[in-house]
Amino acid sequence: MESVTDITRLVRDIAQEMAAAEDRGAVATYIPPLAMIDPSRFGLCIVTADGAIHAAGDAEQAFSIQSVSKVFALTQALGKVGDTLWRRVGREPSGTPFNSIVQLEREQGIPRNPFINAGALVVADINLAGHEPRVAIGELLRFVRYLADDDMITIDEAVARAEQATGFRNVALANYMKAFGNIQHAPELTLGVYFHQCAIAMTCRQLAMAGRYLMHGGLYQPGGARVVSAQRARRINALMLTCGHYDASGDFAFRVGLPGKSGVGGGILAIAPGKASIAVWSPGLNANGNSKLGTLALERVAEATGWSVF
Ligand code: DON
Repeated sequence: MESVTDITRLVRDIAQEMAAAEDRGAVATYIPPLAMIDPSRFGLCIVTADGAIHAAGDAEQAFSIQSVSKVFALTQALGKVGDTLWRRVGREPSGTPFNSIVQLEREQGIPRNPFINAGALVVADINLAGHEPRVAIGELLRFVRYLADDDMITIDEAVARAEQATGFRNVALANYMKAFGNIQHAPELTLGVYFHQCAIAMTCRQLAMAGRYLMHGGLYQPGGARVVSAQRARRINALMLTCGHYDASGDFAFRVGLPGKSGVGGGILAIAPGKASIAVWSPGLNANGNSKLGTLALERVAEATGWSVF
């Protein structure tokens, strides 16, 4: 299956199936504004390699991308410091929840990978690069708008404020890594960058568009500008596959077989290299903090299309 009509129908069928699903998981409550989101929402958008956009359900409704932002922040940080980034962050799956602190003591303040919160805080610290937090945040927002080809993408200030007021675990992680010398700025500044990047709001359509460079081997679009080298795109996809769903990354690879990055807002960006950039949103989460129906929908997409990196 890969004709345009087949994919259009697939996206519509999946959205219909998911709209009717009863067991939708539980919305995140530890970030108060996310607790208010209607769990019956479901959006899906597939941008295929030919540039066609297939969207269904609530694909035009903006949601908090949360940890999906870690993919764009990592891309930005690698652009700034290149592979020296890996002196401060590992590249191994953690096998622990996204907000865990346990490995940091044993591993001298070096987080296992850039997608757990600790690793994303180091990435935010790299992106801060001695500037005011709003400079780093503005830069990331401009980058995401460029990738998605959409200037309407914004930061949900209420979400950023709520995380600033309640994100005590992240405050602990940043301070703990500061004690090991792996956070270079004042922790509150690094945290400010991190909380604002997590509060970027995007629709499935915008997110799938923003992921195109990872499907096109680092190019903005076929024959277009180079966003990152082909090697870097491959490596970011590899990290998404091995670490993008935290302690459920193995299960996601088993069920879906594509690089994917989830967020507690219920969004997932998945990449079928050379084939498609896929964004799905369903706010109810499974026990690992990843979208329950979003994962199921991606499983359906992979089954129907045969897209897989395996
Ligand atoms: O720092 C946090 O806890 C949130 N801003 C982001 C966590 C997240 O999205 C985990 N992903 N599933």
